[in-house]
Amino acid sequence: MLRNREIILGVTGGIAVYKSIFLCRELTQQGANVHVVMTKNAMEFVTPLTFQTISGNTVTHDLFELFHASQIGHVALADRAHALVVAPATANILGKVANGLADDFLSTMIMATRVPVLFAPAMNTVMWDSPAVQRNLRTLAEAGHHFVEPDEGELACGVHGRGKMASPEEIVEALETLFCPKDLTGERILVTAGPTVEPIDPVRFVSNHSSGKMGYAMARAAARRGADVVLVSGPTCLPPPRRARIVPVKTADQMCEAVLAEAAAATVVIKAAAVCDWRPAASAPEKIKKARGAGLTLALEANPDILRELGQRKRDGQLLVGFAAETTDLVTHARAKLREKNLDLIVANDVTAPGAGFHADTNAVRILGADGSEVGVPLATKDRVADRVLDCVVKIRKRSAVSSQRSA
Ligand code: PMT
Repeated sequence: MLRNREIILGVTGGIAVYKSIFLCRELTQQGANVHVVMTKNAMEFVTPLTFQTISGNTVTHDLFELFHASQIGHVALADRAHALVVAPATANILGKVANGLADDFLSTMIMATRVPVLFAPAMNTVMWDSPAVQRNLRTLAEAGHHFVEPDEGELACGVHGRGKMASPEEIVEALETLFCPKDLTGERILVTAGPTVEPIDPVRFVSNHSSGKMGYAMARAAARRGADVVLVSGPTCLPPPRRARIVPVKTADQMCEAVLAEAAAATVVIKAAAVCDWRPAASAPEKIKKARGAGLTLALEANPDILRELGQRKRDGQLLVGFAAETTDLVTHARAKLREKNLDLIVANDVTAPGAGFHADTNAVRILGADGSEVGVPLATKDRVADRVLDCVVKIRKRSAVSSQRSA
């Protein structure tokens, strides 16, 4: 999404400047050409040399600097950019831009640009809550500017509250959203992710290797493309996607209850979760004591097959997308699940392939359609795989829109 994009990173003077160094690195790693503009106050925290080394471009801070001899610096840079990110955005820069002040390179450039501007505010909680900052935020939003809201947590001043700048990953995600086609606007997409855990006793459980990465990537991608997203998630160590409503669950039974409730309003259901097929027939109320050298036999009983149940209840126009985790005969097994569970698409992944399946940041899949179609996605990041799956969803929607136009 950010490859070959010209991004201006505006850095203003706050302690969160150290996070902007990581943001700059993340942006360049994603293939963006980053031009850093620092305010005088930002340079009190870190030197331009740090950003220059990471971005590979000269850092700008002087309003009177000339670009290519004849062009005015702030206009030249503003013209070349695809987007401008201000991180951290202090109360001061928000106030200046909201009130039309342009007294340094960054504020002048923001006024001189037509490209999207994304602010990642960072400040003390009392400042964030102040009527002046809140009023300025409203003014900026009305002017069409974008925000990544600050997080709550321990602030540099020692106080706990809202004001911590969003993480570099969240800022990159917000930036990607600006560039994304909004071809899923109007869709309500229910995604499931992660494993389920089935208790043996209060300290032990049966589960599987799912990390939740594939499902979370699906949820992020759907939200980026304009969908209203609900993510029903088993236990994972992943940060919740900001733009999805998250419903945490543990067991297959809990996932089943949550999914059936949420599916009623969903136009698309994407089941990337690895639901345990079995659970211990009885879960002991106290920790099972071990007798020296003795084994333990667990009786397992079947969990509900949530996707099969959804397939039986499928409404007109609702799309069901399953995932198939296979270790042999990938396409044959996946096609059988597609048919038996009444799905529109199934994403088949061979979880034994290097770099694919559980835990990896990448996956390689075959997307099979109920119409017999097959799309291969070679090893790619789970974010990219998620986008290819959503491309197939969009394709089905377009096809059915055309056929209903024809029959009208
Ligand atoms: O989470 P990661 O570490 O990123 O790994 C990603 C993944 C390998 C978990 C993911 O890509 C994947 O393949 N998810 C589906 C795993 C799975 O349960 O496959 P299955 O073939 O057993 O099930 C087929 C489909 O039925 C799945 O959509 C599953 O969610 C659903 N199912 C299965 C069993 C059950 N009791 N209820 C279900 O709804």
